[in-house]
Amino acid sequence: MYGDQIDQIIDKYGTEKGILIQLLLDIQHEFKWIPKEAIKKISERLKIPYSQIFRVASFYAALSLKPIGRHLIQVCLGTACHVRGGAKILDAVENELKIKAGNTTPDTKFTLSGVNCLGCCAQGPMMVIDDDYYGGVTVTAVKKNLEKYE
Ligand code: FES
Repeated sequence: MYGDQIDQIIDKYGTEKGILIQLLLDIQHEFKWIPKEAIKKISERLKIPYSQIFRVASFYAALSLKPIGRHLIQVCLGTACHVRGGAKILDAVENELKIKAGNTTPDTKFTLSGVNCLGCCAQGPMMVIDDDYYGGVTVTAVKKNLEKYE
């Protein structure tokens, strides 16, 4: 499915083993995740064991082994947001999108993630959609916030 594009990205770098992370970052940038097909192709062309590439791709937070939706929603579950109802906000988003945190909607529009702190604890409960920060989120505001990305 992604074969030709993956080959083109590998061609840009040649088959030097030292370029693995940069190669994976480029694939992440292109597809928004690291498909298994890419790991297989890199393994064959660079002669690096599949398991080694998989370990590297699992280790770096910037690399994802699952498809990411067009919009990334992060709901804060850190202590300051938790005491202000962060878990209820996450429940509301899960109910609205009909997915659990850590997953992507079947239409790949949204990926939902629960995170530990978004760095603006005084404004909790916090949620971030792409680069937009929403503070003091209420259960009723969740739907309105999501509608902006429909
Ligand atoms: S705990 Fe939620 S932003 Fe810090």
